[in-house]
Amino acid sequence: MLQEKHRTEIDEILSRYPVKRSALLPLLYLAQREAGYISEEAMREIAGLLRLTPPQVYETATFYTMLNLKPVGKFHLQVCKSLMCALVGSDTLIGWLEKKLGIKVGETSKDGLFTLSKVECLGACGTGPMMQINDDYYERLTEEKVDRILADLKRDGASALKTGPFMWPEPNGAKQ
Ligand code: FES
Repeated sequence: MLQEKHRTEIDEILSRYPVKRSALLPLLYLAQREAGYISEEAMREIAGLLRLTPPQVYETATFYTMLNLKPVGKFHLQVCKSLMCALVGSDTLIGWLEKKLGIKVGETSKDGLFTLSKVECLGACGTGPMMQINDDYYERLTEEKVDRILADLKRDGASALKTGPFMWPEPNGAKQ
């Protein structure tokens, strides 16, 4: 339950908005930060907090591609598929990532490290093809660059898995 762990933060979020339902996106983000995705249970809880119906919360959660509705890997690779990136090779990039990771778009690798998604424009249209990995942008991507990025992430991921399960970062950047 979000309220058990985050009562103070939830109260602070709610205090920012004169209309309760305006706190929907920050609360969805909080739920995602807690678990890496937004569960049905979390959506029901948020609906109760904001006096919305669960379908109203679901409609919003499904509108934004940055909100995950199922568990994702430690590294969530979100490749922009919109026009400007498509013109400079996002399809080829996605194919390369699928080949390298051994997964299709929408899947997570067996080791739990990588989830691959296609998303709409991320606002870096002049530096495509690009992808967002967790909170970071990787731009002007080539196959060589992707290989280097994956090698780095695999190294980081392997050491993180040795030291314990991945925890989503706190808003101030500190690890939990
Ligand atoms: Fe890819 Fe805008 S079209 S970031």
